[in-house]
Amino acid sequence: MLTDHEKELIAKIWDKMIPVASDIGAECLLRMMTTFPGTKTYFAHLDIRPRSTHLRSHGKKIVLAIAECSKDISSMMVTLAPLQTLHAYKLRIDPCNFKILSHCIMVVLSMLFAEEFTPQIHVAVDKFLALVALALAEKYR
Ligand code: HEM
Repeated sequence: MLTDHEKELIAKIWDKMIPVASDIGAECLLRMMTTFPGTKTYFAHLDIRPRSTHLRSHGKKIVLAIAECSKDISSMMVTLAPLQTLHAYKLRIDPCNFKILSHCIMVVLSMLFAEEFTPQIHVAVDKFLALVALALAEKYR
C-alpha cells in the first residue's frame, strides 16, 4: 500500500518523464530485450534496434500508460482495463514479464534521476510498479 506521500512522489516523477517519454521508454525496452532476450519474441514484427522509431514510439506508449496510472493510483484497475485484456487475451504475454519490465524501468529511472532517486523514491516506485504489474496480470486468473 502506498502512503499519500509516496503517491505524491510517484505523480511527480512520472510527470517529469512525460516530455521525454520516448527516450525513457525506448531505453527501458532496450534493456528488457538485452538482459532478458526471451522478451524479444513478442516484438518480432517491430524494428527493435536501439533507438529505432518503433522502439521509441512503443516505449512512449508504455511510459504514458503508466503516467496515467500515476495520476490516480486507486483507479488503476479501471485505467488499465483495456491493456489487461490486450496483454492477456490478444498478445498473450507471460505475466512474469511485467516484473522484468518493471525492474528495467526502475534501473532507467535510477540512472536518469540519479541525484533525486532517494531510497524513499526507490521504495515508492517499486511498490507502484508492483501494483501496475499486478493489475496487468489480473485477467490471467
Ligand atoms: C502494447 C503498455 C508490459 C508486450 C502495449 C501498449 C501499451 C502497453 C500502452 C500499446 C497498446 C495500444 O497500442 O493500444 C504496457 C505496460 C506494461 C507492458 C504499462 C508494463 C508495465 C509489456 C511486456 C511485454 C509487452 C512485459 C512483453 C514482454 C507488448 C506488445 C504490444 C504491447 C507485443 C503490441 C506492440 C505493437 O504491436 O505495437 N503495451 N505493456 N508489454 N505490449 Fe505492453
